[in-house]
Amino acid sequence: MFLLGFDLGSSSVKVSIINSTTGETVASAFCPEYEMSMIAHQAGWAEQEPEVWVENAIAAIKKIKSQSNVDFNLIKAIGISYQMHGLVLVDEQGEVLRPSIIWCDSRAVEIGDRAFQELGSDYCLGNLLNSPGNFTASKLKWVKENEPEIYNKIHKIMLPGDYLAYRLTDVIKTTASGLSEGIMWDFKEDKIATRLLDQYGVSIDLLPELVETFAPQGTVTTSASQLFGLPQGIPVAYRAGDQPNNAFSLNVLNPGEVAATAGTSGVVYGVSEEVMFDEKSRVNSFIHVNHTSTQKRMGVLLCINGTGILNSWLRKNIAEDLSYEQMNELSEKVAVGSDGLLFYPFGNGAERMLENASPGAEMKGLNLNIHSRAHMLRAAQEGIVFAFVYGMEIMQNMGIDLETIKAGKANMFLSPIFRNTLAGVTGATIELYDTDGAAGAARGAGVGSGVYASYEEAFASLQKLEEISVPQNEQQQYKVAYHNWKKHLNKE
Ligand code: XUL
Repeated sequence: MFLLGFDLGSSSVKVSIINSTTGETVASAFCPEYEMSMIAHQAGWAEQEPEVWVENAIAAIKKIKSQSNVDFNLIKAIGISYQMHGLVLVDEQGEVLRPSIIWCDSRAVEIGDRAFQELGSDYCLGNLLNSPGNFTASKLKWVKENEPEIYNKIHKIMLPGDYLAYRLTDVIKTTASGLSEGIMWDFKEDKIATRLLDQYGVSIDLLPELVETFAPQGTVTTSASQLFGLPQGIPVAYRAGDQPNNAFSLNVLNPGEVAATAGTSGVVYGVSEEVMFDEKSRVNSFIHVNHTSTQKRMGVLLCINGTGILNSWLRKNIAEDLSYEQMNELSEKVAVGSDGLLFYPFGNGAERMLENASPGAEMKGLNLNIHSRAHMLRAAQEGIVFAFVYGMEIMQNMGIDLETIKAGKANMFLSPIFRNTLAGVTGATIELYDTDGAAGAARGAGVGSGVYASYEEAFASLQKLEEISVPQNEQQQYKVAYHNWKKHLNKE
């Protein structure tokens, strides 16, 4: 029996099919080959066409069909992981009204700040756990203020994963976890945050009906079957934002467990049973996949927008002749601390960790007699890790324990410099697992459709590949480099 997972990311759409018994990924493909573009009509904006997500999902399925002989009729359920906080708008006919305003688009920062002032920190932090900030509800308010002719045609709003589920099943639904991502969930009252909606003048009717994270929302329709090349009738039985899903993929479900990703953006994600928030909303709390009203499970999420995107920018602009592996090999020729060259990765939209400031990416201390391309490549990876550590200090102050960090062996976690620097500065043990977001979404579909009776059963086959830690006597050099980076950090 097989399970299929989609991972609708910002740079590609990945599809993986796993064997439900062995957990093994039997086929996997992503499209496009080179990163999906983000449309930026103005500085700080980022949009993508939902149709492009659908086209790439279809292309990835086609690729699997041409490269493997997996019998698609044995697929029992579909799960979806998706880029969080995005806004998709559809009219009465289900037609998309404008490109999606995606997670790293900063246009709504001021709207969120104003709402925070007007609603007060007691309500925003106590009930919503966050400032409305730059999240989905504030993006919707931006459309209301700036594009009223589009706003007036809205039938429903969706998050990116809701939209893919809709295209597969013709049913428009969202999850409480999804609404919490958009700051449309009231944790105190355990219901939709009507006070925020009222503040924004947004009707609750624009929100889809709720479906549980692990539950069938509908099945692949006849027309979706033709479009996607999937058998008709398969249930779409799980959906979660890519970060809660990444934690789920690593079996991070309970307090004391921590997951991380380092793709386009980077995230450290801890689980708490208490409703926690940061006074300055630098770290965000959302509903985790296994949260219920009786057993609280919050995902405490540190996000750094500028992570792998800096590495890929460097590759495009100064290292086009190298593969990522060769970039790592070259960086390893330079010692820890990059001979004083400092890199700040904050060039991909407002950074929540820096109170929604957008200082831009920056290199400091460039010495024209010492530093080379290798230094820039190493300093960039170190800077990304240092940004993680800076945010992890905020999480630690909230009471999150960061001794063991679990991650999939992918993206920046493939780089020895990245892993060792992270383990060196924090003293934490990094555990790398043989999984990714698409395989995790497939496991989620197994839980949501009843193929697995429990989370334990879903994760019985999860393989740990590697453990990384840096001996105590070698940690100092990494810590010194971090303190130097932190000393020169510009938060504006
Ligand atoms: C998490 C976040 C990003 C996106 C990327 O809060 O904003 O990690 O989920 O897809």
